[in-house]
Parts: sequence; C-alpha cells; structure tokens
Amino acid sequence: MKLRSALWLFLNAIMIAKVKPINFPKSYTCQLSSSLTGLPFYTPRECCGPRWISYNKTSLEMALSSKLFGQHLASPIILKTVTRHMENPNSETPLVLSLHGLTGTGKSFVSRLIAESIYHNGMRSKFVHLFITTEHFPHKAHLETYKDQLKQWVKGNVSECPSSMFIFDEMDKMQTDLIDSIKPYLDYHGTIDGVSYGQAIFIFLSNSGGMEIAKKALDFWKTGRKREEINLMDLEKDLTLSVFNNEKNGLWRSSVISEKLVDFYVPFLPLEHKHLVQCGLAEMAARGMKPDQGVVERMAKEYSFFPDEERIFSNQGCKMVSKRLDFYL
Ligand SMILES: Nc1ncnc2c1ncn2[C@@H]1O[C@H](COP(=O)(O)OP(=O)(O)OP(=O)(O)O)[C@@H](O)[C@H]1O
Ligand SMILES: *[C@@H]1O[C@H](CO)[C@@H](O)[C@H](O)[C@H]1NC(C)=O
Ligand SMILES: *[C@@H]1O[C@H](CO)[C@@H](O)[C@H](O)[C@H]1NC(C)=O
Ligand SMILES: [Mg+2]
Repeated sequence: MKLRSALWLFLNAIMIAKVKPINFPKSYTCQLSSSLTGLPFYTPRECCGPRWISYNKTSLEMALSSKLFGQHLASPIILKTVTRHMENPNSETPLVLSLHGLTGTGKSFVSRLIAESIYHNGMRSKFVHLFITTEHFPHKAHLETYKDQLKQWVKGNVSECPSSMFIFDEMDKMQTDLIDSIKPYLDYHGTIDGVSYGQAIFIFLSNSGGMEIAKKALDFWKTGRKREEINLMDLEKDLTLSVFNNEKNGLWRSSVISEKLVDFYVPFLPLEHKHLVQCGLAEMAARGMKPDQGVVERMAKEYSFFPDEERIFSNQGCKMVSKRLDFYL
C-alpha cells in the first residue's frame, strides 16, 4: 500500500512535471514529505495534495439530489461540469460558472456543496476563496487598488495551489471593470508567468436574471405546464441577455461575457411553498429532530409569496428557515 502510494506520487509528479515544466508547485512537497515519514495520513496542516483535495463525485451527486430542492436545471449542470473538470487532469482552462437566481434559491448553498465535494475542509479550506463585493471591494474610488489586489491574490493562490476555487458573491454589486482584471486567467490556455490556471474553479453568484427566470417559471405555471418541463433552452437566451445588459451587474459589458469566458450560466428557479416545506423538514432532520409537517407548515405561513395574486413563489426562497423554525418549535 505504502509502496503503491509512493509509486503513485512518483508517477503523478512526473505527470505534473510534464504538464507544467516550469512551475512545480511548492505546496506539493507537503504531500511528498508526509509520505516519506511513513505516515501518509498524518498531515497536520492543510496542504495542496490528495489528502486534502480530492473530488468525490458520489458525494456531490448525493448532496445535490438529497439536499438541494426544486433545482432540476442547476443540479445536473453542476454535477456534469464539476465532474468533467475535476476528472480531467490536463484541463487547460479553469471551470467558470455563473449562478443566477432570486434570493434564497440555493446559489451560495450549491457553492458550499461543491467545495465540500472537493476539499476536505469544505468552505473553511484555505484553497477556497470567497469574495463578497460589499465586504472586499466596497469603495468605488479604490477600483484600481482592488484590481491589482485581486490579480495578485488569484495569481498568488493558484501558484501555491492549482486546484484553488474562487467564489465571487454579489456580482450584481461589483464594479464592471474589476472582474476584467482577472480575465487573462480565465481564458488563457497554458501558463502565464509559469502559472497554469487550468485546474482552478471560478464561480460567480448574482441575482441578476432572477426576475427573468421567475417570469418563465410563472408562464409555465399559468399554462398548466410542470416546472420540471422548463428546460435550459427556455432560459438561456433571457439569462445571458439580462446579465449582459444589466448595468448593475459586475459582468455588465464585461469582456468576460463578450468573449464567452463563462462556461455555463446556471439558472436557479424561484422556490414554491412545497420547497419551503422541504427545507423546513430537512432542517429539522439536520438537527436530529423528528420532522414535523405541522410545525413546518406553520413556519412556511410566515413567508411572503409572489405574485401578489397567485402567491406561488417565496420572496425569500428558503432563506432564514433555520431562524424561523426556532420560533415554531
Ligand atoms: N434550493 C434549495 N434547496 C435546499 N435548501 C435551500 C435551497 N435554497 C436555499 N436553501 C437554504 O436556504 C439557505 C439560504 O440559501 P442561499 O444562501 O444558498 O441563497 P442564495 O441563492 O445564495 O441567495 P442570495 O442571492 O440572497 O445570496 C441555504 O443555506 C439553504 O439552507
Ligand atoms: C465519497 O462520498 C461517499 C458519500 O458521501 C462516501 O460513502 C465515500 O466513502 C466517499 N469516497 C471516498 C473515496 O472518500
Ligand atoms: C490568497 O487569497 C487571499 C484572499 O482570499 C489573500 O489574502 C492572500 O494574500 C492570497 N495569497 C497569495 C499568496 O496571494
Ligand atoms: Mg448567496
């Protein structure tokens, strides 16, 4: 076993050296040294190796099918694209996903599920970087500084660990030019200054396009068609147009969009009453309680729904379920 893993590491090292001859990431050494100590599983500090980073397709598949409700479009795209990317060691460009939908529909939640299926430490991993516009880039006047900083951060982190993940939350609030500063990293095949971005993942989150998606879902509902019949083609055009033409989106007229650097636009549908109930039951189960339909139904009553007349979709999605449930227990 030990010999085999040492051999594997050796072969792996050759492979890495072949693909990226210039830059052998120094963090790989953590993995080599720990296997030389004869204690392959004793790596006290998180480092950029298979002990801490290894994609588990089954775990993502199970998480998406059992924990994510009402997202029949997002779920398979996420699974397929992440799997294809993670299972291709020679990928030349990073995976770039842009998730869209109204508040509380599961965008941040899905990002977390992806992180948990790849990184041992999930969102807490030092290889997962979450940038929230209002927190990390709040001042319009500092745009130039932010651009330099962001470029340095992405480059610095990817050179330390090629399998880094970057999540940009609140893209709708981001200044247009900022994301263009990392554009070279998103599309370049090969290496830039000895750094290859082919193993990285970039995820953009925003509410833009959410209204268009909801409109489509409402159309289906009104004509008596099933939500599950909505397909990507129905949404794709609306989505790219609304994102590209939305002045309030950080991707607005950005070359990231016009040069087609986003691999997939992933729509998140607005959630219905029944999904809210599912969220409530799941929350109870997660707390080790016996799921109680009555309690959850009472909690769901607390939510507001749109449109005013038909009251079909939750205005807040499944947000605050945990807090509001407390009130009814
Ligand atoms: N589709 C869903 N299936 C299961 N749980 C969900 C779903 N959507 C939201 N939730 C629950 O609600 C919480 C809030 O959702 P989340 O933070 O993912 O929303 P969001 O889409 O990122 O919203 P925002 O645009 O406001 O950031 C999640 O932590 C999760 O517990
Ligand atoms: C992958 O995840 C599944 C489900 O969580 C788990 O049963 C399995 O042991 C994991 N596989 C590996 C190699 O960790
Ligand atoms: C990696 O990114 C973080 C922000 O998430 C930043 O603080 C840090 O300086 C970056 N590391 C390098 C080496 O650039
Ligand atoms: Mg979010």
